[in-house]
Amino acid sequence: MDHFQLRDGVLHAEDVPLPHIAEEVGTPVYVYSRATLVRHAHVFRDALSGLDDPHIAFAVKSNPNLAVLRVLANEGYGADVVSGGELARALAAGMKPEGVVFSGVGKTHAELLQGLEAGIGQFNIESEEEGYELAAIARRQGMTARCALRVNPDVDAETHEKISTGKRENKFGVPYDRAIQLYAAMSAEEGLDMRGIAVHIGSQLQSLEPLETAFLKVGALVRDLRAQGCAVTHVDLGGGLGVSYREEETPPSPAEYGAMVARVTKDWGVRLIFEPGRVIAANAGVLLARVIRSKRSGNGPPFLVVDAAMNDLARPAMYGAWHDFAAVAPDGTRTTAHIVGPICETGDTFAMDRDCDTLAAGDLAVFRSAGAYGATMASSYNSRGFVPEVLVDGDRYAVVADRIAPGAIMESERVPDWLT
Ligand code: LLP
Repeated sequence: MDHFQLRDGVLHAEDVPLPHIAEEVGTPVYVYSRATLVRHAHVFRDALSGLDDPHIAFAVKSNPNLAVLRVLANEGYGADVVSGGELARALAAGMKPEGVVFSGVGKTHAELLQGLEAGIGQFNIESEEEGYELAAIARRQGMTARCALRVNPDVDAETHEKISTGKRENKFGVPYDRAIQLYAAMSAEEGLDMRGIAVHIGSQLQSLEPLETAFLKVGALVRDLRAQGCAVTHVDLGGGLGVSYREEETPPSPAEYGAMVARVTKDWGVRLIFEPGRVIAANAGVLLARVIRSKRSGNGPPFLVVDAAMNDLARPAMYGAWHDFAAVAPDGTRTTAHIVGPICETGDTFAMDRDCDTLAAGDLAVFRSAGAYGATMASSYNSRGFVPEVLVDGDRYAVVADRIAPGAIMESERVPDWLT
């Protein structure tokens, strides 16, 4: 459930009519609902209530806006980060260093050092090479890095291939059959405090089965590691729970996920960590846009050209993703249209032959479920600016990220004097 509902025929974000935001901030603009973020944070935490003191680290990549992170920090969430930039954001937003988990296959020397100096809770080591590099840095600094070893369980998450991460051929984690040997070797390294295992098999998962298969493999690893005398006190089960972008999609609920986790992990005797992103943020945001014009196309449906484009919301172009498209003030009639942005490539298509509300030039519309992997994946392609972000809270709202105009981007460039 979210807080983007029709009231008196006009779509509101909580108590704010979206036309007000369009008027004052302009379009396109991302609009987030604080109440929805908080609700999802509670639902996810409640779903894990059967576990002993789980730690939830929000996947910052899904929505790194500082205000969004602050909302989640206030709910006691930590952060799952994958770059020095995300780490800086999490800390700036008020997340505690010990609640931060640092994932990613390509952490640089500078980023490992940054994490160490910040005193983060856990590095998820993704390779033997990274483990030894981190150990050397920690020793040089006279510090100890708390670590988990990320294993690649070789499980097909049955999601879009570009967001599947747990198959043998994917770049993530260490091979399952080498995990024990590597964990033991790293446990012997001065500078590393090996405390557990991490796993993440993919995103937008529609079924619990692949997750359960992966978790069972992790459970076996925990037992085998202990049998070898290795300490295992933490297990990070990653993120991945899908959301419903359209009615036909019925992903498992957080409660079903939590029940499965409780059953599979009941005798592990570890503190569990979770890294949800999409399930918290996706349905807490919309991309609000205006129709520039409706362009006739031969005998086919018209092209509705909106002022948002693939540079603002990349998911349809990148993954063929579906985002519900709805009028802000629907007149009750429906039509079929191709929904496209202004960018000069055919990939800038949000939907073809979409059954949608009837819309004309100047009308406002939203792409729903755009709160995760939306603004964060924006670019300035076609010399378009960066879309602003707004956070609504009841009947008030604030611009939580300014629009970055094309002119401001141009100001960061220069033509050297020797170029006549
Ligand atoms: N943990 C790790 C290590 C991850 O790689 C990810 C997502 C997450 C947690 C959060 O997963 P979630 O709970 O959000 O499914 N841009 C793509 C999604 C990429 C996901 C990358 N990793 C999209 O728009 O669908």
